[in-house]
Amino acid sequence: MYCNLLQCSHFSNTSVIAVSGNEVVGFISAYLIPERANTLFVWQVAVGSQARGQGLATRMLQHILARPYCHDICYLETTITESNKASWALFNGLSSKLNTELHSSVMFDRIEHLDDAHDTEMLVSIGPFNATKEINHENI
Ligand SMILES: CC(C)(COP(=O)(O)OP(=O)(O)OC[C@H]1O[C@@H](n2cnc3c(N)ncnc32)[C@H](O)[C@@H]1OP(=O)(O)O)[C@@H](O)C(=O)NCCC(=O)NCCS
Repeated sequence: MYCNLLQCSHFSNTSVIAVSGNEVVGFISAYLIPERANTLFVWQVAVGSQARGQGLATRMLQHILARPYCHDICYLETTITESNKASWALFNGLSSKLNTELHSSVMFDRIEHLDDAHDTEMLVSIGPFNATKEINHENI
């Protein structure tokens, strides 16, 4: 809860929540990488099971990138475990929509960094892109 409160206060410019009726159906937390203000790091993406497969995660990412605060962002990074098919599809799809390239490499290795307690997190890097040019505001 403390972490969530920091995300929605200090990081609200780069985070988003989606509500349907009274229910939270989607959430993204992200931040500008310290010392690299042109790069958005997407920390968490979650869409409720009832709202998946309808483009919500894509629209939340586009919503953040289309904000005036994010005008200078031309790279996006995140980490994904190799088995998370939905996340790979989400970020590959976003890369195509931004008309740019996606590269991946190991960021946190299961044995070396994560004490064999969590799958290896692959660093995914998307860019360069011009969100102002590539995002159709009518779709978000
Ligand atoms: C990953 C997640 C956020 C995707 O949310 P979503 O709103 O369903 O995603 P979208 O509808 O925007 O889909 C984006 C793309 O991924 C594809 N996709 C979505 N779910 C998929 C799945 N399970 N398998 C394969 N492709 C999938 C969509 O077809 C779409 O492709 P397109 O851009 O080519 O049309 C959602 O599945 C989720 O919350 N998963 C659990 C939490 C999680 O793993 N978060 C990421 C790690 S922190």
